[in-house]
Amino acid sequence: MKIGLLTGGGDCPGLNAVIRAVVRKGTNHYGDSFIGFLEGWRGVLENKTMTLDLATVNGILPIGGTILRTSRTNATKQPDGLARIEATFKKNGLDALIAIGGDDTLGVAKKLNDAGVRVVGCPKTIDNDLAGTDFTFGFDTAVGIATECIDRLHTTAESHNRVIVVEVMGRDAGWIAMYAGIAGSADVILIPERPIDIDAVCSTIRKQHEAEKLYSIVVVAEGAKVAAGKSGETNVLAAGGVDEFGHARLGGIGNLLASEIEKRTGYETRSAILGHIQRGGTPSAFDRVLGTRYGLGAIDLVHEGKFGQMVSLKGNKITSIPLAEAVASNRRVDQDLMSVAEGVLDKPAGK
Ligand code: F6P
Repeated sequence: MKIGLLTGGGDCPGLNAVIRAVVRKGTNHYGDSFIGFLEGWRGVLENKTMTLDLATVNGILPIGGTILRTSRTNATKQPDGLARIEATFKKNGLDALIAIGGDDTLGVAKKLNDAGVRVVGCPKTIDNDLAGTDFTFGFDTAVGIATECIDRLHTTAESHNRVIVVEVMGRDAGWIAMYAGIAGSADVILIPERPIDIDAVCSTIRKQHEAEKLYSIVVVAEGAKVAAGKSGETNVLAAGGVDEFGHARLGGIGNLLASEIEKRTGYETRSAILGHIQRGGTPSAFDRVLGTRYGLGAIDLVHEGKFGQMVSLKGNKITSIPLAEAVASNRRVDQDLMSVAEGVLDKPAGK
C-alpha cells in the first residue's frame, strides 16, 4: 500500500517514535511505501511532501519534535478543503492516511473518513486529555521536566522564605499539574477541573507558613479558571488571537496568582511559567516505547482495513476505538488521582 503520514497540532516528544515505527513495520512487514505530509493538514492541502523511508527515519527515535513539522491548520475550514485533500490523495496514488494528532487533528480526520477518505488516527497530546486512551506520549516527558523544575524551585523558595507559583501546560485538563504537583510535593495544585478559590489557597499557605515551613510551592495548570464575579469563571489569556480551531492562547495565570497571593498574605511570591520547555527536547524512555507501540498499532489498523479508528492504550494493551469517540469529549482528571493529591495536601485543587 502507499500510505501518507502527517503530524498536526502542538508537537510532542515521541512523535518521531510513531513515525519511525509506522515506516519500519510498514516497509519491513507489509511492503508499504510512504510519503510524509509537511506541517499537518497544510501539507495535504498544498501537497507539500517529503520522502519517508527506512533511511529517513534512521536515528530519529530520541529526537524531540517531529521530522514532518506541524501546524494548527484546520483543513475543514477551507471552502474547498475536502476536494483539495481528495486531489492530493489521487495525485500521490495514496491508499490510506495516518493522522497523528490531538482532538483537533483527529476531528478533521473523522470528517474526512466520513467523506470516504481512508484515514486511521493516532492519539497525541502533551495534555493527556484525549478521550478513549489511557495515556498519550509526550505527557510522561512533560511531567518529568515539570517535576525537575519544581524540585529546583523548592530550594530557592526555601532559601528566601518565598511562595513560588509554577504554571504548567494543561488547557482543559490538569493531568500535568496533578502528576508533576504530586511528584514534586507541591503544597497546592490548581487544575481546570476545579475553579480556583484564591482565599482558600492563601489560607492553606498561611497555615503552612505558621505551622510547618516558611515557603510554599503552588502548581497551576495554564487552563485553571479564576472566579470573575457574577459572570462566572474565566481563563487568563496571553496576548494574541485564536487559532483556526478557535482556541485562545492561554498563559499568565501563574503571574496573576502570584501577585494576588503576595497582596493577600504579605509573603514574598514569585512565578515561573514553564511553557514550551515542557514540549521540547528528547522523549523519555516511556514515551519512546508508547510512541512505538502506537505507530505499530496504527499501521496494523490500516492493514486490517479499520479506517475511522484511532489506536488507543487501554490498561497497557494497544487496541482501537472509533475516531468519533476520541473527539467527542476531553478526558478530565479523575477522582482517583484527585484522591491521591487530597491524601497528601491540605487544599489540593481549588474549591
Ligand atoms: O494543546 C497542547 C498545548 O500544549 C496546550 O497545553 C497549550 O495551551 C497549547 O498547546 C500551546 O499551543 P502553541 O504551541 O500553539 O502555543
